[in-house]
Amino acid sequence: MTKIFVLLLCLIVVAFGFVNGSVDEKEKIGIFELKKGEISLKVTNWGASIVSLVLPDKNGKLGDVVLGYDSIKEYTNDSTYFGATVGRVANRIGGAEFTLNGKHYKLVANEGNNTLHGGSRGFSDVVWKVKRYQREGPSPIVTFTYHSFDGEEGFPGDLLATVSYILTGKNQLVIIMKAKALNKPTPVNLANHAYWNLGGQNSGNILNEVIQIFGSKITIVDSKLIPTGKFASIKGTAYDFLKPQIIGSRINQLAKTKGYDINYVLDGEKGKKIKLAAKVHDKKSGRSLELYTNAPGLQFYTGNYIKDVKGKSGYVYKAHAGLCLESQAFPDSVNHPNFPSTIVTKEKPYKHYMLFKFSTKSH
Ligand SMILES: *[C@@H]1O[C@H](CO)[C@@H](O)[C@H](O)[C@H]1NC(C)=O
Ligand SMILES: *[C@@H]1O[C@H](CO)[C@@H](O)[C@H](O)[C@H]1NC(C)=O
Ligand SMILES: *[C@@H]1O[C@H](CO)[C@@H](O)[C@H](O)[C@H]1NC(C)=O
Repeated sequence: MTKIFVLLLCLIVVAFGFVNGSVDEKEKIGIFELKKGEISLKVTNWGASIVSLVLPDKNGKLGDVVLGYDSIKEYTNDSTYFGATVGRVANRIGGAEFTLNGKHYKLVANEGNNTLHGGSRGFSDVVWKVKRYQREGPSPIVTFTYHSFDGEEGFPGDLLATVSYILTGKNQLVIIMKAKALNKPTPVNLANHAYWNLGGQNSGNILNEVIQIFGSKITIVDSKLIPTGKFASIKGTAYDFLKPQIIGSRINQLAKTKGYDINYVLDGEKGKKIKLAAKVHDKKSGRSLELYTNAPGLQFYTGNYIKDVKGKSGYVYKAHAGLCLESQAFPDSVNHPNFPSTIVTKEKPYKHYMLFKFSTKSH
C-alpha cells in the first residue's frame, strides 16, 4: 500500500515537473529586434522565425515586407511556415523514408506519404534557445540554437542547429544556418521560409513584381512534388527567369501547382562559393532585393496555397500574397545519389549562408 502511494506521489511530481517544464519553455518565447540605419528586423525564437522586416520605400515611407502575425500565439498555431526556419530537412522526402549506411529510416509523413519540412513537428515548430542578442551597433545580431534529439521525427542522431540573423552594411541581412552532428550521420537541409512582398505585407499579391532567378535548370518533380532525379532546362518554359520577368506573366501555365513551387539548380560562377541566386523588384514601392547564397538550389514558391490567412492587423492573406526564396539543397537529396550530398557528420558540419541586399530606387 505504502509502496503504491509513494509510486503515485512520484508520478504526480514527475507529471507536475513536466507540465511546469513545458510551461516554462513556452514562457521563454520572445520577439527580438535588430536595428541598423533604415531597417529593422524582428525575429522570434519560436521556429527561429522572421516576424517582420521594415524598410523605406522610394518615398521614404516605412513598410513591413514580410508576411506574418501580430502575436506569438498565432505563430505557434501556424501551418504556412511564415518566416520560419524549416528542418531538420527542408522540402520533401519521398515516401517519408531513406537508407543511410545500410540502415533504413522511417520518418513522420505529414504530407500524404511524404515528409515536408522535417515532419509534423519540424524545426519551425519548436522553441529555440537564445544564445546571443545584440540589438544595435555596427552588426546587430541574434543567434538561436536548437538541440534536435536522436530519432526526432525519425531522423538519426543528435544534432545541434544554430541560426544567426545579422544586420550588416547598408540594408543587408545575413542569415547563417549551421548544424553539427553530435553522434550519427544525418541528412540536414535548413531553409528560411519567409514570405516576401516588397510592396508591403498588406499590399495584395506579388504577381506584378519582377524576378530574376540565376538557375538554368530545375529538378523535375512528380505529381506529389517529389524529384524524379532528373533535371530539365528552363529554356523556353514558364520557369525561365534568367532575364527579369513579371512573376505573373506566365503563371497561368502552371495550373497543376497553382503557381511556382520548384527547385532551381543555381548556376553560380566557376570557383565561387557564393552565388547570386535571385533579384526581385517591386516597381510601385521602388524596393528591390538580391539574394546571395552558398546553397546549390533555390526553391521558388509563390504562396500558391495561402488561403485566407488572417495576418498582421487583421489583414487577410490570399494566394500569392508573398513569395518564398528558399535557398537550400535539392529536395529529396537523401534519396538521389546524383544530387549533392546533404549528409552531415561529426567531421563534416553544415553551413548555409544567405545574404539579402535590400535597396530602394526612386524612378
Ligand atoms: C515550476 O517553475 C517555477 C519557475 O521556474 C519554479 O519556481 C517552481 O518551483 C516549479 N515548480 C515545480 C513543481 O517544479
Ligand atoms: C489555428 O489555425 C487554424 C488554421 O490552421 C485556424 O482555423 C484557427 O482559428 C487557429 N486558432 C487560433 C487560436 O488562432
Ligand atoms: C500512400 O501510399 C499508399 C500505398 O502505396 C497508397 O495507396 C495511397 O494512395 C498513398 N496516399 C497518398 C495520400 O498519396
